[in-house]
Amino acid sequence: MADTVSILDRIFTLELARVAEAAAVAAARLRGKGDEMAADQVAVDAMRTELNKLNIQGRVVIGEGERDEAPMLYIGEEVGSGKGPQVDIALDPLEGTTICAKNLPNSLAVIAIAERGNLLYAPDVYMEKIAIGPGFSAGLIDINASVKDNLAALAKAKGVDISRITTCILDRPRHAKLIKEVRETGAAIRLIGDGDVAGIIHTTDPEETGIDIYLGSGGAPEGVLAAAALRCIGGQMQGKLILDTIEKRDRAATMGVDDPKRIYTADDMARGDVLFAATGVTDGNMLAGVKFGKDAITTETIVMRSSSKTVREIKARHQNIGKFG
Ligand code: FBP
Repeated sequence: MADTVSILDRIFTLELARVAEAAAVAAARLRGKGDEMAADQVAVDAMRTELNKLNIQGRVVIGEGERDEAPMLYIGEEVGSGKGPQVDIALDPLEGTTICAKNLPNSLAVIAIAERGNLLYAPDVYMEKIAIGPGFSAGLIDINASVKDNLAALAKAKGVDISRITTCILDRPRHAKLIKEVRETGAAIRLIGDGDVAGIIHTTDPEETGIDIYLGSGGAPEGVLAAAALRCIGGQMQGKLILDTIEKRDRAATMGVDDPKRIYTADDMARGDVLFAATGVTDGNMLAGVKFGKDAITTETIVMRSSSKTVREIKARHQNIGKFG
């Protein structure tokens, strides 16, 4: 175990940045072109190519979907050179396909890596999520408590009035009740079109992003990716799978979910030593998007590790433009 941990640290921090950078550059070439699928496909291809250069015995646990619906980076796909440590991988080569297609803020290329068996094998269903950044006492937020109670607890802990709290919520009809409840407290809402991995990460730096708390439902796979990031950067998150049909409960059961009502913390979703990397595709609140210059491509990536809590921000100027194909 100790050897694997040190190998993860020494080799993979930069390697993971390269993997995320490659996917982001590929997707960014299709920014604003209105074609979500094409942008996603080039990001998948680029991420897979880079991943397969790594000396790992990697297994995709959060990927592009089940094997029959995703030809590449499907759940269960073996990636890497086949030599090196056995690791599990959660990835989203283009988180926020629509954001990228419309060239709106905060689409990312995202990847997390952990020792084998340490990432939640989440079905592709919705997950109810609540998240705040670091520096608060454990248990300050509770997914089962009312919106009002959670916002009041957070405002009290921050020493501000609720009206000074900003929530982040996906702009969806299913969130009408949630939005109404937040409005009734006087708190503000940043309604985002897509991209709740970024939305949750944004809670970790409210001064920079303006977001204090994330609320609402989004993809469960994205929940695992966000949890991996919070494990590294700090913060609290709870997630509850929305298994509202027998089919979803059965599917979740086959993936090892024995309690359909379980509340997962960030530690439950991403255990042990976790590395996380995200590169901006479009400009965002924490990361700038890819810039295509005449002589170089510039990328901004955040790479983090849970065991050391190191957060590296890597601004890379790639003069060898040809390497991105
Ligand atoms: P994609 O990158 O697959 O387009 O997902 C974007 C996203 O907004 C996620 O961030 C979020 O978890 C999910 O979609 C929400 O799903 P829905 O669009 O069905 O509400």
